[in-house]
Amino acid sequence: MILVVGARGMLGQDLMALLGARGHGVDIDEIDITSPESVMKVVGDLKPEVVVNCAAYTDVDGCESNTETAMAVNGEGVAYLAMACRDLGALLVQVSTDYVFDGGKGRPYVEDDAPCPLSVYGESKLAGEMNAAFSPEHLIVRTQWLYGLHGKNFVETMLRLGAEKDELTVVDDQIGSPTWTVDLARAIIALIDNGCRGIYHAANAEYCSWNGFAKAIFEEQGLPVSVKPMTTTELNRPARRPLYSTLECSKLAADAGFQPQPWRSALQEYLEIRTAAL
Ligand SMILES: NC(=O)c1ccc[n+]([C@@H]2O[C@H](COP(=O)([O-])OP(=O)(O)OC[C@H]3O[C@@H](n4cnc5c(N)ncnc54)[C@H](OP(=O)(O)O)[C@@H]3O)[C@@H](O)[C@H]2O)c1
Repeated sequence: MILVVGARGMLGQDLMALLGARGHGVDIDEIDITSPESVMKVVGDLKPEVVVNCAAYTDVDGCESNTETAMAVNGEGVAYLAMACRDLGALLVQVSTDYVFDGGKGRPYVEDDAPCPLSVYGESKLAGEMNAAFSPEHLIVRTQWLYGLHGKNFVETMLRLGAEKDELTVVDDQIGSPTWTVDLARAIIALIDNGCRGIYHAANAEYCSWNGFAKAIFEEQGLPVSVKPMTTTELNRPARRPLYSTLECSKLAADAGFQPQPWRSALQEYLEIRTAAL
């Protein structure tokens, strides 16, 4: 059985749907990963072969003013899950982020590039990566710029704002790969099923800026919204973000035989499914 922790989050719900009968989901009502007792009880009772941790404190700007919560959930919580997995001989799959990098490389990041987080969120997720190693059997999957049907995300924000305004200003100096949670869930399952261990990068192929992503969303939806550029400095958010954090995903393709589709076709598929679900 594959236990999905954080099963009611944006990624967790898509992963549960794809796992079908192989999956068992728990979230904050059943397990608090910041409590070692809660983790030992739930994982010890269910005895999964694999634990996929999709639970996290994901408010990147909120982490700057809530450092203790960020470290407790994203760092220490992973240590408790890893120790519970170690005791069972189970595999721990930890979902991590491009925000462990500073974005200064200028080329796509490979798995063994040195992390250098710019934010509390990035530091806490890096702590989680290191703590995953308490389980001898561990797999770390770094991803970026997630969107999906079951959570707050950039696509939904743009569609909401695009329905209200005919002009928006969006940052054009952060580059990455928008990634559909369904494609990430497919990548995670492929990595598990192919016995992969260690660090992997998993994101939709090709890249753009947030500004380019916003333009693509409006083009695909036929919304006549003009998208003006602005810089990250002008936006002035509490947490620093990497400017170029594209993830090189060829190790995923080589070892798990899974090549995520380009971000633009993933967006088209997502918007079709979203329209059908409305
Ligand atoms: N979203 C992105 O753009 C992005 C990018 C790169 C990497 N990631 C990583 O991808 C993973 C999934 O992200 P997501 O966007 O799907 O997250 P999400 O929608 O915020 O889901 C996280 C889930 O974890 C739960 N949770 C929070 N604290 C918990 C605790 N102490 N114990 C148990 N459950 C707890 C949350 O419950 P509540 O909602 O009640 O708090 C929520 O259901 C995370 O590891 C995240 O760091 C995300």
